[in-house]
Amino acid sequence: MATVYVILLTLHNINRWLVLLTGVWTLVRTLPGAGGRRPFTAADRRPVVAFTGTVHLQLILGLLLFAFLGMQRAPVFAGAPNSGFTWQHVGLGVLAAVTATIGSALSRRAPTDQGKFRVATTWTAVTLLLVLLLIPWWRPLLRLFTA
Ligand code: HEM
Repeated sequence: MATVYVILLTLHNINRWLVLLTGVWTLVRTLPGAGGRRPFTAADRRPVVAFTGTVHLQLILGLLLFAFLGMQRAPVFAGAPNSGFTWQHVGLGVLAAVTATIGSALSRRAPTDQGKFRVATTWTAVTLLLVLLLIPWWRPLLRLFTA
């Protein structure tokens, strides 16, 4: 069963980089459009969808990891610098999934192209900030199927 933990932890670790990369990609595409008159095209929509998708995948992997450790009665984030880190991680992770979803939905519905850019920029920046705060930076930056 330890193998399941290592596989889930590795996927959760690697997908963290996809979350950060797609978030930066979204800002690079949407920030310049927020102040101009450029039309919001399919190429601008693509990173928003990819970012929301990676955040949702991270939430699912995190929930599976959390449930798995709970079933094994194993400690979560043993050795964390503060005792409340587990709930900080889970709470901000769920919140990040909510803000990414809201940003994607509101950007799609915004009546103007500039509005679509602005909404996508704002909610992506908020989500990225939450993600940067919740990441346990003391853990390995890249894990490749090792405990
Ligand atoms: C965008 C959101 C999230 C990011 C970027 C993120 C990132 C990370 C990272 C980098 C690790 C360490 C991986 C390693 O040691 O190799 C980790 C561990 C973990 N995360 Fe997340 N996470 C997120 C959301 C969540 C959520 C929502 C949950 C639970 C519902 C969760 C549960 C866990 C658990 C249980 C661990 C392993 C703790 C341990 O091994 O003791 N994560 N997370």
